[in-house]
Amino acid sequence: MGLSPFRREGPTGKPSATNSSKPTGRRRSLKNRSVLFGLMAALFLFMVGCSKTGQSTWEAFGPVAQKQLDLFNVLLWTMVAVFIVVEGVLLYAIVRYRRRPGDEKPPQIHGNTTLEVVLTIIPTILVLALGIWSVFTLFEIDKAPTDGPEPLHVNVTGHQWWFEFEYPDAGNGKHIITANEMRIPVDRPITINLESDDVIHSFWVPKLAGKLDMVPTHINKMWFQADSDKIDDDLPITLYGQCAELCGLAHALMRFRVTVMEQAQFDSWAADYGPPPTNTDRAKKGQQVFATNCTLCHTIDGPDDPSLSKSRLDGFLTGGDITPVPAPNLTDLRTRLTLAAGIIDLSETTLRDWIHDPEDIKPGNYMSERAVLYQNGTANLSDEEIDALVGYLLDLR
Ligand code: CUA
Repeated sequence: MGLSPFRREGPTGKPSATNSSKPTGRRRSLKNRSVLFGLMAALFLFMVGCSKTGQSTWEAFGPVAQKQLDLFNVLLWTMVAVFIVVEGVLLYAIVRYRRRPGDEKPPQIHGNTTLEVVLTIIPTILVLALGIWSVFTLFEIDKAPTDGPEPLHVNVTGHQWWFEFEYPDAGNGKHIITANEMRIPVDRPITINLESDDVIHSFWVPKLAGKLDMVPTHINKMWFQADSDKIDDDLPITLYGQCAELCGLAHALMRFRVTVMEQAQFDSWAADYGPPPTNTDRAKKGQQVFATNCTLCHTIDGPDDPSLSKSRLDGFLTGGDITPVPAPNLTDLRTRLTLAAGIIDLSETTLRDWIHDPEDIKPGNYMSERAVLYQNGTANLSDEEIDALVGYLLDLR
């Protein structure tokens, strides 16, 4: 017999003289569903509308993202139009030509050459036009413009599980290596070489450009730019990015930020890039703790030694554990906003917690797994030593 989910009025579902509430119950149920659907649609629109600070491809902050969004809109709305026309004709035919009582069997038709030719030509033209448009867009956004401001070049390397940003020349010949927080001047093309020294990652800042893979031993090139006339807020502003390719245990904990700033703000950050000062006793003690426990993997006094990066890649390619473990350069840690590849805000407290027990904050991280310091799970450091280390790294006075 089968009970309809709409029928709540009786176990048999049989009509009866007392069953006058049946249509009302069905209507109420349908109404409930409509309300639920309406709420979900509203929630979806609300979430889309609230993406101002989140990751959204619907809000392009630069020319590359804008061209990709334009192409997406053309593809999307063309497909919506095709869908409406096809489904409209289908629904019209179903309703208009439905079988009515007393109808004779209609004449049977087998094929209609004109119709078939038309229905082949229209999709062919559509697919070709959209395909050609897509290819042209690809070429258009392939290279950074050469007629504007001089591009700033950044090498980005994916690691399990964090991002490294290297500026071979951030201005005045200054060589900078930092991690998880990319700083870029506004209205200037940023040319990027993407690589990885372990597995394949994927680099994605939705408001600036589409995603691109980071592959060991192969450099992928991309560029983007943040345009001041597309950004309403005062600079600097923070955009969010993340790894978009499943790359291991902490893939979902591999985020980064792109801070868009005025050129002068960028220059001042670049000029200040350097080891933390050691003019307090706490910092001097912290420096010693760092030198004894952290320097096998972390650098704090400027860019990493190139031989270090090479030995990591060699280690990976020969199939062994990468030693020393690739680890974020900490030279400018005191100017950063986040910790553990962007998953928590950086503060005195969070850094203390992180050094004490990184696994508690970011499961799968290689620091607690491989560093000698963490043989018993938590850092083999006294509270005093951690305190000195935090004071030194963050330049606390
Ligand atoms: Cu790196 Cu996912």
